[in-house]
Amino acid sequence: MRELISRLPGSKIREVANAGIGRDDVLAFWFGESDEATAEPVREAAIESLSRGETFYSHNLGLAELREAIAAYVSALHRPVAAARVAVTSSGVNGLMIATQALVGAGDEVVAVVPVWPNLTAQPAILGAEVTRVALVARDSGWALDLDRLLHAITPRTKLLIVNAPNNPTGWCLSRPEQRAILEHCRRSGTWIVADEVYERIHFSPEGVAAPSFLDFASEDDRVVVVHSFSKSFVMTGWRLGWLVAPRALIDASAKLIEFNTSCAPVFVQRAGLAALASAEQSVPALVQRLKACRDTLLPLLSTLPRVRVAPPPGGMYVFFRVDGEDDSLAFAKRLVVEAGLELAPGAAFGPEGEGWLRWCFASRELARLVQGVERLAGAL
Ligand SMILES: Cc1ncc(COP(=O)(O)O)c(C=O)c1O
Repeated sequence: MRELISRLPGSKIREVANAGIGRDDVLAFWFGESDEATAEPVREAAIESLSRGETFYSHNLGLAELREAIAAYVSALHRPVAAARVAVTSSGVNGLMIATQALVGAGDEVVAVVPVWPNLTAQPAILGAEVTRVALVARDSGWALDLDRLLHAITPRTKLLIVNAPNNPTGWCLSRPEQRAILEHCRRSGTWIVADEVYERIHFSPEGVAAPSFLDFASEDDRVVVVHSFSKSFVMTGWRLGWLVAPRALIDASAKLIEFNTSCAPVFVQRAGLAALASAEQSVPALVQRLKACRDTLLPLLSTLPRVRVAPPPGGMYVFFRVDGEDDSLAFAKRLVVEAGLELAPGAAFGPEGEGWLRWCFASRELARLVQGVERLAGAL
């Protein structure tokens, strides 16, 4: 086995989950998904596809009608995008890997904005690239980007910038002026941007239906790849379906890489994706309202607890908070499982910048479950 792979750290979230194995009284908020099942019409579309016998390979880049539907969905939210600039992938994480494989190799320099969902920094590392981490700054009002520091870190040697906003775990969002400054800088340095915008619709500001996106202003030839997923906005985590929007040359390269990774997304899953997009403008705003109610239930309760420091996340499905005096997030998260029956993700799972913090996924069908979780935390504190 490659030495680099044996050195890859295991999931710290998994370690916390293991501490709860065998107990059926644990309240789990460590995972990045809703406890709702996918909407019935979406499930039906997959069942009908299977009943019709759609059990064959499809085009590497996805069904033509799904690529058209994604292009229409993206164009309605942002600037017009042609279907030829869309690749259907077998999940967001697969789309990220395809983009990373296309753009970096051994010894290449990558800059990533952190803390972040660990897969984003593990993927270039698996390919042998060197990842420089640029940390967001924790302020009382929430997490913020030190734009000068980020731009300083991106040099002509930087092959790729990886940025995830709305961010998992902090909820931090990029502003439009920050996006413009980053794009202009990367145009000068010749750096590609992989923008993970899988939480773009889960955005709680009244200003628009999506968080600011690079697709609002980047031209079609800019070195920008936007990665998206059906998992979060369409409650489809287990289906493994996502997409990329990129310049055409990168879509051509993706077709080759998809062939060697998964060959294509399953057709019945793509049919489910088509059904999800058909009702997106009813289902997504309703989901965001439910998630907002979750956030607005959890946040005030958490903020009244002693030693807890928390700021409202502007996007995403997570509250990232600190408990003063609890600096070892993994040990603390394990203790919460054992002593309080409460499963949260340790901040250290998102890199050293997240150490001392805990992530609570608030996507819960029942608000009462969140209230009960806070009671358990209060008891443990
Ligand atoms: C920031 C981020 N990007 C991408 C993904 C991947 O989503 P999926 O692979 O389920 O499409 C996740 C999932 O948690 C995520 O948090």
